[in-house]
Order: sequence, then C-alpha cells, then structure tokens
Amino acid sequence: MKHYFQKGTNSSKPVLLLLHGTGGNEHSLLQLAEMIDPEAPVLSVRGNVLEHEMPRFFKRLSEGVFDLEDLEFRTKELSNFLDEAAKEHDFDRKNIVAVGYSNGANIAASLLFYFEKALQGAILFHPMVPRRDLNIPSLKNTPIFIGAGTNDPLIRTSETEELKTMLEEKEANVTMFWDHYGHQLTEAEVMNAVKWYRENFS
Ligand code: MLT
Repeated sequence: MKHYFQKGTNSSKPVLLLLHGTGGNEHSLLQLAEMIDPEAPVLSVRGNVLEHEMPRFFKRLSEGVFDLEDLEFRTKELSNFLDEAAKEHDFDRKNIVAVGYSNGANIAASLLFYFEKALQGAILFHPMVPRRDLNIPSLKNTPIFIGAGTNDPLIRTSETEELKTMLEEKEANVTMFWDHYGHQLTEAEVMNAVKWYRENFS
C-alpha cells in the first residue's frame, strides 16, 4: 500500500499507524503523530479505494452503509501490509498503536474485530461500528481511546456507545471523550487523546 514511514528517534516507542479519513492521504495526519509522540516511529498509509478520486480504506454503498465484502478484503489487505511493513522497515509488528479518523478509525476498528492482537492500542476519532456479525477476538488489556461528537451528523451517539460496549465485552479498556462539533476532529479531542497516550504508552 502507498505509505510514508518515519523511523522516529526512539525505537522502543510504539509505531503510530496513521489512517486518514475519506479524501485524505498519507500526509493528512502527520501533525497528529507529532503531537501524540514526537519520538515514535510513524507509518502513515493511504487507503487503496477511490471514491470520486477521494482515497478511502474500503468501499461503501452509501454514507454510513459499508460494502462488507470489501471491508473484509481491505481489512485483511491492511493486516498483511502491516506484516510486510514491519519487515521492510524493521519494527516490532506487535507494537503498533493505530490513530484513525472517520473512515480510518473504521478500518482500525475492523482490524480489532478481525484479528487478535492486531494492535497494541488504538485512538479512534469518530468511529462507527464496522460490522455486527463477527465473533470479535479477545481485546484483553488493549487500551482504546474513542473521540466522538454528541452532534455528529454521520454517527448517532447510540452507535458510538454500541461500539464501546462491543469492545468492552472483549475486555478492552475504553476511554471515551465527547465533544460537540459534529464530525470534526477538535483540539480538545486531540489533547485528551495525547493525555490518554501518555498514561498508557510512556
Ligand atoms: C465511512 O464511510 O467510513 C464513514 O462514513 C466515515 C466517512 O465518511 O469516511
């Protein structure tokens, strides 16, 4: 997959896997990584699907309605890519923390739904429930931060709560932060995610 890798200055830090929203690319979230952990290696990936020239991580049938066959294919593709990237760039595959926004948060959640120990932790900004028909593997001791909007026009608060419950049922440690600026990623969300990261990974 098309990506940008930055080695970082401290190889014991988790690799920050950046997953952009619809229409973004591998450069969109680099500033976020800098704020979360300026020493950490960064692997920023571009989604392989194009929707009207806008990169995404999987196809959708309409807004909020996912093409589940493609979601499965793309989730496996991303997982395989992470295995290869770990070899190519010489980092620990087991020590990845995803940072995803919107469509990127959805594919990060999907990685957690499909594969045990897919990620060491995850920051999900404005995620949805990727699908409801899987037997999700154990997420024991996996810290997950969810940032969401009380008035997000794309995601009902009940769907965010549903995702939190699904993750907690598999023993993930979920931290929620609510803001009220719709689907936008806000400074307060980022600051709370940074605080959460420092508590869990520094
Ligand atoms: C998705 O398709 O993943 C969600 O609708 C969020 C987005 O607009 O990318």
